Amino acid sequence: MAVLKLQKYGSPILREKALPVKKVDKEIKELVDNMIETMYVEGGVGLAAPQVGVSKRIIIIDTEEEDVVVLINPVIIKREGKSEEEEGCLSVPGVYSPVRRSSKVTVEAMGLDGNKFQITQEGFLAVALQHEIDHLDGYLFVDRLSPAKRIMLKEQLKNIE
Ligand code: NI
Repeated sequence: MAVLKLQKYGSPILREKALPVKKVDKEIKELVDNMIETMYVEGGVGLAAPQVGVSKRIIIIDTEEEDVVVLINPVIIKREGKSEEEEGCLSVPGVYSPVRRSSKVTVEAMGLDGNKFQITQEGFLAVALQHEIDHLDGYLFVDRLSPAKRIMLKEQLKNIE
């Protein structure tokens, strides 16, 4: 396993729409292993492949209870409720802010075994799923803040860039 280089705010790959994974092969499994290693070393609770410079639709979430959840080609198929939890991102170091999202989501994805599955999560993990899936579409959590809040963060973001 290897720790991969994190892409930070300003990196063009974070703004791309990541490509779907067609088949879970050895290369994908190795990438996921390295993403997990990177997430633990960097101290994140989730990670998306574009954050390590790979424009593929893969995210991982640390549930703390069980194994890391690996979601390939994840799609949110159901949303419920509203939440506003503080978020941060390994690609936007030092910036934290509440973000408005759904409080409960159901996501359909492919697992490392190549089979489709669904998970429903509430609270913190629901937020993490939405945050990581956003990465696959080129969005960062700071894009979801109010214009006033974004102006307040402008200097901080410029410094990361
Ligand atoms: Ni992030």
